[in-house]
Amino acid sequence: MELLQELQKKQEMIENALSDYVPATENEQGTIYRAMRYSLLAGGKRLRPVIMLLACELCGGRAEDALPFACALEMIHTYSLIHDDLPAMDNDDLRRGKPTNHIQFGEAMAILAGDGLLNKAFEITADSKTVPAEVAIRAISVLANASGTEGMIGGQVIDIENEEKSLTMNQLQYLHSLKTGAIIRAAGVVGAIVAGADAEKVKALDDYCLNLGIAFQIRDDILDVVGTEQDLGKTIGSDAQNQKTTYLTLCSLEEAESLVGAFTEKAIRALDSFGEKKEILISLARYLLDRKN
Ligand code: IPE
Ligand code: IPE
Ligand code: MG
Ligand code: MG
Ligand code: MG
Repeated sequence: MELLQELQKKQEMIENALSDYVPATENEQGTIYRAMRYSLLAGGKRLRPVIMLLACELCGGRAEDALPFACALEMIHTYSLIHDDLPAMDNDDLRRGKPTNHIQFGEAMAILAGDGLLNKAFEITADSKTVPAEVAIRAISVLANASGTEGMIGGQVIDIENEEKSLTMNQLQYLHSLKTGAIIRAAGVVGAIVAGADAEKVKALDDYCLNLGIAFQIRDDILDVVGTEQDLGKTIGSDAQNQKTTYLTLCSLEEAESLVGAFTEKAIRALDSFGEKKEILISLARYLLDRKN
């Protein structure tokens, strides 16, 4: 209960800030703002920004100070979803319970809305005044790296290039650690950096998030098979349709579920050196174990 209340509080902070950062603007290029807001404010779980705010607090910082960076991460995540759904990528037509951006606005505008969110993320972090400039620069560098070719984009490249091919378990884990793990890692790392945490604490949150991220993507692969469109708000069976290798093509449902459990426990162990404030991140990890969306 405490977890759910805390999540709701953080989600509200994030929802309000996101809407303020991307206001509905009626000028000649007003369509881009409608397209950006359409996906950004469509009610995602806000897992990444919530983790960032909690990581910041765990390290003794203030959630408000991490808010611009948390919103930036959610913008980057949303851009990655808009592009991930495009016909040239996963070709999906449902996201966050609504028609995907390209179904609603057309492919060209969906590409531009993704680009717009990515640029906005770096604009708001560069303009942020919540932390000293050198801290902001370090955080921005982590965000850029995590979303780039050694992070999320790199993972998407491997994902796309291996459609209709089979990957080994190790290759699949590497792919997951980039396409999903990198952005989630940035949540923990940037939260800690904003709080002024030492290298050991940054590393502990990095480890927590990496393992949580892998568990999260295995669960995502499971839900693509056993979930419902109603719960998930996205198309079921997309992975099979695109002939992707997932944990469920390499092992049984039971084995995949037990791997989610194993990575979750590994994530939790990474927090060993923190005090009792870590309980919220432990509860969050356990809460995600059998999530339905
Ligand atoms: C979906 O992420 C894409 C993955 C990396 C698995 P989420 O499941 O966090 O999607 P939203 O943000 O709640 O819509
Ligand atoms: C996408 O993984 C991860 C991203 C970087 C967007 P998926 O393709 O499995 O995500 P969903 O299932 O469409 O949300
Ligand atoms: Mg994909
Ligand atoms: Mg997809
Ligand atoms: Mg998926």
